Amino acid sequence: MAFPQSFLDELTARCDIVDVVGSYVQLKRKGANLFGLCPFHSEKSGSFSVSPDKQIYYCFGCKKGGGVVNFIMEEENLTFPDAVRFLAKRAGMEVPEEEGDREAGRRRARLLQLNRDAAMFYHQLLWQADGQAVRDYLDRRQIRKATAVNFGMGASPDAWDTLLTAMTKKGYTKSELLTAGLAVQGKNGGLYDKFRNRLMLPVVDTRGDVVAFGSRVLDKSEPKYMNSSETPVYSKRRVLYGLNLAKKTKRPNIILCEGNLDIVTLHQAGFDNAVASMGTALTVEQTRLLSRFTKELVLCYDNDNAGKIATERALQILNNSEFSVKVLQLPQRRTESGALVKQDADDFIKLQGAAAFEQLLSGSEHGVEFRMAQIAGKYDLADDQARVAYSEEISGLLASLSSAVEREIYSVRAAEAAKIAPEAMKLEVQRAFKQQRAREKRAELRKDLNPAAQLQPKERTLRYENIRSARAEEGILRLLLLDEGLFPPTPPLEETDFSSPLLGRAFGLLWQAKEAGRPVTLAALTGTLSPEEMSHIAAVCQQPESTQNGGRAMADYIRVIREEGTPEDGRDPLLAATEKYKDKKGTGGKQHG
Ligand code: CTP
Ligand code: MN
Repeated sequence: MAFPQSFLDELTARCDIVDVVGSYVQLKRKGANLFGLCPFHSEKSGSFSVSPDKQIYYCFGCKKGGGVVNFIMEEENLTFPDAVRFLAKRAGMEVPEEEGDREAGRRRARLLQLNRDAAMFYHQLLWQADGQAVRDYLDRRQIRKATAVNFGMGASPDAWDTLLTAMTKKGYTKSELLTAGLAVQGKNGGLYDKFRNRLMLPVVDTRGDVVAFGSRVLDKSEPKYMNSSETPVYSKRRVLYGLNLAKKTKRPNIILCEGNLDIVTLHQAGFDNAVASMGTALTVEQTRLLSRFTKELVLCYDNDNAGKIATERALQILNNSEFSVKVLQLPQRRTESGALVKQDADDFIKLQGAAAFEQLLSGSEHGVEFRMAQIAGKYDLADDQARVAYSEEISGLLASLSSAVEREIYSVRAAEAAKIAPEAMKLEVQRAFKQQRAREKRAELRKDLNPAAQLQPKERTLRYENIRSARAEEGILRLLLLDEGLFPPTPPLEETDFSSPLLGRAFGLLWQAKEAGRPVTLAALTGTLSPEEMSHIAAVCQQPESTQNGGRAMADYIRVIREEGTPEDGRDPLLAATEKYKDKKGTGGKQHG
């Protein structure tokens, strides 16, 4: 973990934050800072700022921030040492590795290699006698051989230790197999294969690494799907099944489905732009990943109630994102007996064919239209009272659209549905829009009037105990970063003088850098503070602070910190001790003054 400080200093000096961030985010200069769309949360207005002077980034929306290494940690999903290595490679610098780090890097690489070897092993088995049951299953699902190869599918045999034996022979340890989630420990301590008698679906990330496995049973038994648990190389929030293939598509959008085999069928039918979130709700991390490859998403969830809820949730996450979002609604299917049953993309393509799906895709509606239809579905629009309620609810939805053109177009559409005059609907939407704006303004005003609340760190565990002192402590940190020359050679404050342990720690670390003659920058803290702590320090540092009269400001800050640091009765403990001393000798005390 510990890289030599001189190396880190040189690295951060060589990796200008504007260059690095600029290769991920489009930045525009506004005054001393640059702004862009935050890569860490969905937004349409640029709340994400980069300060070339302070070499920090900070998002006013999601309140994430830090130095250049923090940015890479967050954006590339890397640990601190890996982010350092990543940047060093970019800057063409050799990394002085410690034995311990090389070890951690090796462990990670071995885990990935183990996953790859296991995938190859399962894949080879698929074509052998042991793979017969899975091959039959693929036939039943009409999955062709070329598709199975394309997805690297495999077969886990109906036995307890096939993989264990094979991988142990290759030199992997039991603990590695456990960590990779490929083996499970039984009650008596023995290990056995986690995946047995299943169709194996390796999960490959966009770098091409096998990070996990999904798997499906071959019959009706439960659990139908079994996936790898979270491991050091797999976090399901950050991966989408099939994106390794879909990222190469020539189609203009990416289709999001629920199920692994929906993806397989779609790719086989020529929709090589499909990915699946493997049965979980869409996450912000996944939308960030997607934004690297496309500007348009098509949601194609199952047409049952759960699918509708998933669609609504995804639309909320994507609301006001830079994506254009569409919803592809699969029709419900009527069985011979006349009952309506749910369909997923896989069912639909098998019954209706690729051309019919292509049609649904091109006819898929805008996300707003889907939400409008959902609202319309709740009301009986033949009833007057219901039409009033409908207009109210729908105007709330339309008012939340940031584009005036969209508000206008969909207002007319909503008016048609409710058979009321378009002008009346537009007025209603306008009113709701003004109300929402006023509400936002009031909230902002409240925040401005109540700076104490604003000053609190976002993380609960970092909350300030003494706001007045903490504010002065923040000022001291800013001054130290802006102009260390203001400060005397000996520290005017100790870490323990700070009411906020985090601010005290940051001060201590910066002071160490100053004493060692190293650059006093936020980068000096990245290796020691957690990302949440760094975000808060970045928030503190992006606030304005002037070095004009800096000496005066520093003295004021120090005075406040001292005052607030004294005990409840208002007496400085040091002072109190001397007074007592004086009293005893009878040479001090007020009665004599
Ligand atoms: N899933 C899961 N664990 C389960 C059930 C489902 O992880 N016990 C995930 C799988 O990734 C699955 C997706 O949720 O692909 C959707 O589940 P479901 O709609 O039940 O299955 P289908 O994808 O339709 O599966 P199939 O067509 O193979 O029956
Ligand atoms: Mn299905």
